[in-house]
Amino acid sequence: MATKQILHMNPGQGETSYARNSTIQKTAQDRMKPLIEDAIKAFCGAALPKSMVIADLGCSSGPNALTLVSAMVNAIHHYCMEHKQPQPEMCIFLNDLPCNDFNTVAKSLGEFKHGQDSSSHHIIVTSMVPGSFYDRLFTSTSVHFFCSSISLHWLSEAPEELVKSKIPMYDSDDKLRLLNHEIVANAYARQFRKDFTLFLSLRAQELVLGGQLIFSLVGRCSSNHASKSTQVWKLLAVALNDMASRLMAFYCKKELHELIIGIKVSFQGMISKEKFDTFHIPIYAPLDKELDSIIEDEGSFRINKTMVYDAFHATDGMLPSPNTMASMTRAVFEPVIVQHFGFSGETMADFSSAVERLSSSSFLEAEFPLVCLCLSLTRAR
Ligand SMILES: C[S@@+](CC[C@H](N)C(=O)[O-])C[C@H]1O[C@@H](n2cnc3c(N)ncnc32)[C@H](O)[C@@H]1O
Repeated sequence: MATKQILHMNPGQGETSYARNSTIQKTAQDRMKPLIEDAIKAFCGAALPKSMVIADLGCSSGPNALTLVSAMVNAIHHYCMEHKQPQPEMCIFLNDLPCNDFNTVAKSLGEFKHGQDSSSHHIIVTSMVPGSFYDRLFTSTSVHFFCSSISLHWLSEAPEELVKSKIPMYDSDDKLRLLNHEIVANAYARQFRKDFTLFLSLRAQELVLGGQLIFSLVGRCSSNHASKSTQVWKLLAVALNDMASRLMAFYCKKELHELIIGIKVSFQGMISKEKFDTFHIPIYAPLDKELDSIIEDEGSFRINKTMVYDAFHATDGMLPSPNTMASMTRAVFEPVIVQHFGFSGETMADFSSAVERLSSSSFLEAEFPLVCLCLSLTRAR
């Protein structure tokens, strides 16, 4: 099924919401701020327009939804004050898929507007744009700045060839998994190339010449061998596999018990092998070099700067606690997991515990060495 029909992060502001469990992503956003400030200086220095259009793609909901656009607005204010230039009018758009929690986004936008109106007298107009960033979202040459954090590793769909040929994303059988590793990795890489090429060409149509695209996504580092061969869904797949085998052990014991006392028990939330094998998560973490090559082949953008960070280490060098990893994983993946497996809240709590057990620093560093790739691009043609 296409990602745009099903995907959203956990809505609202409750305990399991994305709003309350996105501090890891917030670190990536903070690391993008210097790129944003440089891009604003370069763009405004060339020619400051009277009005500017800014859009965040894949904003989600909660405090992170406004971090990047706020950084842009502040950088523009700062530039204008420093160079004694009049402030441009600004139009801010927040985009995500239609199932996103736009009610919470609307409230945050209201608070943001109120804060801006009371601290300055210039015009800021805000709006939400539900839709996929793999479709056209804006009119031609109407946008000056695009930003996007930790969203572009989401594909438009899982690779069709794997779904059709019934090759699991992560085979629970170790030998089969090793045998199919290349096929799976290549299918995901092809899907990412297709999607990211489309994304670049759509944004190039919407940006003015010289307009900027600043983004971060989960990636892998070519110089780290372990990172080269890992898959971004590994933690999730290992956790689900772990649950499946523990439930299976429980089921076997129960069956014996049933035989003895003759009671029929139904096992809600059981992960069948068929369900597990047909679960293809539409995400792919590209290698840094892979990203550069797609940008070069597509041809509309010039790369100004690339920064590579460890995906999970905070700015103080600390890894998140296993509990933080588990809560973040649940907030991001619960809707897709529930949609596929039909899990109850209780089974989702079991899933969180499985992720927490796995999220020791040794597993994260050795088995799951992902990076955060931050890039700043200019539309060059
Ligand atoms: C992990 S969240 C990141 C949210 C926020 N930018 C942050 O840094 O915390 C990824 C977001 O990308 C959105 N997304 C994924 N695919 C998308 C698409 N094709 N079009 C628009 N948004 C998409 C998801 O719905 C989700 O809200």
